[in-house]
Amino acid sequence: MKNRPGSRRIILKAPWEIDKLRAANQVVAEILSELREVVAEGITTKELDKIAEDRIAELGAKPAFKGYHGYPACTCISVNEEIVHGIPSEKKVLKKGDLVSIDLGVILDGYYGDAAFSCFAGSPPNEQAERLVQVTKEALYAGISRAKPKKRLGDISAAIQEVAQSNGFGIVRKFVGHGIGKALHEPPEVPNFGVRGTGPLLKKGMVMAIEPMLTIGSYEVEILADGWTAVTADRRLSAHFEHTIAITQKGPEILSDGFM
Ligand code: MF3
Ligand code: CO
Repeated sequence: MKNRPGSRRIILKAPWEIDKLRAANQVVAEILSELREVVAEGITTKELDKIAEDRIAELGAKPAFKGYHGYPACTCISVNEEIVHGIPSEKKVLKKGDLVSIDLGVILDGYYGDAAFSCFAGSPPNEQAERLVQVTKEALYAGISRAKPKKRLGDISAAIQEVAQSNGFGIVRKFVGHGIGKALHEPPEVPNFGVRGTGPLLKKGMVMAIEPMLTIGSYEVEILADGWTAVTADRRLSAHFEHTIAITQKGPEILSDGFM
């Protein structure tokens, strides 16, 4: 997800470009579904990243995050109070009940794919944690359902906000979703809170990564000393789901469909 500042013109994609974006995002979806199967107590986040790295190469793609502003890995793996941008580490061994968020980006044939999910190592530690993950996914799909021509960007944001707040969860504001195409981050920013009927008009050919990050408790963020890992200031749990979608005449198409 993008750090807040910076917004310019939205680049519309031709159908052949959407085909390329779909192909890139299907590589992401395939690898995320494989990772989801191996998340378990005892595996390290570094091992998960290595699986992703090998599969990216096998599928003929390139990692999108590695080297991005100096980021050192193919995935971001954020555990429990970590919201996003957790750096995979051989020292980070998953424990039973950990809430694990995996974010993956690839480049295929010059176009970017980007998606993420949260799940548990083993079973959820308690009902509230389980609900946080469920509601974050629900908020993502509520946002996606508004991604149609003639709606406005604020309709997506407001739908996400309504689901989060009606369930009593915090919404992280420091990071937002983003346009995506021949770059990982393009205009517009896609905040996870907003006002219906406001913002840019949505049009056929827009492609964006929608990515709510919800918390139990406060939405304030701190960045750890590694310069990347974003954690909740109160160190309570956070969850993150992300899809890359295209706006078509008929409504949203989830380009990264197939791993949730
Ligand atoms: N999915 C994230 C994003 O939209 C992850 C970026 S990690 C980074 O930006 F290392 F590439 F910054
Ligand atoms: Co993203």
